Amino acid sequence: MDQDVDTLRESYNQVAEEYVARIYHELEHKPLDRELLDRFATEVRGLGPACDMGCGPGHIAQYLHNRGADVLGIDLSPGMVEQARQLNPDIEFREGNMASLDVDDEVWGGIAAFYSIIHIPREKVTHVLQEFKRVLRPNGLLLLAFHQGQEINHIDEWWGKKVSLDFIFFQRAEMEAYLKTAGFELEDCFERPPYQDVEVQTQRVYIFARKPR
Ligand SMILES: C[S@@+](CC[C@H](N)C(=O)[O-])C[C@H]1O[C@@H](n2cnc3c(N)ncnc32)[C@H](O)[C@@H]1O
Repeated sequence: MDQDVDTLRESYNQVAEEYVARIYHELEHKPLDRELLDRFATEVRGLGPACDMGCGPGHIAQYLHNRGADVLGIDLSPGMVEQARQLNPDIEFREGNMASLDVDDEVWGGIAAFYSIIHIPREKVTHVLQEFKRVLRPNGLLLLAFHQGQEINHIDEWWGKKVSLDFIFFQRAEMEAYLKTAGFELEDCFERPPYQDVEVQTQRVYIFARKPR
């Protein structure tokens, strides 16, 4: 059964503080992620504002901001948004649901969604990608990151907190098909094995896709 949004939100509220302690500085140890975000930042500077979608404590937004992007962050969890605001007072963070964004059509030049699509059930991914396409300007750029696989990992406890979370893995070809169905043009794709001692030991996939002009 699909995970309900309230449970997802409350679960991330529970771990928000610990997430900062453990994950906030992770980009220091992730060279490919930095390289891809550098490319994203360079491109969106000429396209319009960018959104860090499912921003958690906002470290992706901060990285993009430091590279000259006009960026904001959106997250389902008010606990995460609060952490993000405290850590990055120069950046706007809002609560929101990527499945139904309170955002006008064609306002953003880019969306970077790092490990947030992983909470969208397979049958709803195309709908969410169509929502991304709606809010992107023509030629707008999407950078998606997710865990490669077919499984759904459910956890009831995370860092000593009671949660209920599904982590949905996707195959690269599967996500590429969702993107094409949603009307995106595929631009580039990267895969890498996990960095040891830095992150959960899963294969990582990054896709650049573009809204047609
Ligand atoms: C694994 S964390 C990733 C956070 C951050 N992007 C990163 O790379 O560390 C997933 C985040 O997505 C958010 N999220 C999950 N479903 C969402 C939705 N429907 N809309 C917006 N944010 C969502 C969660 O609240 C959580 O902060």
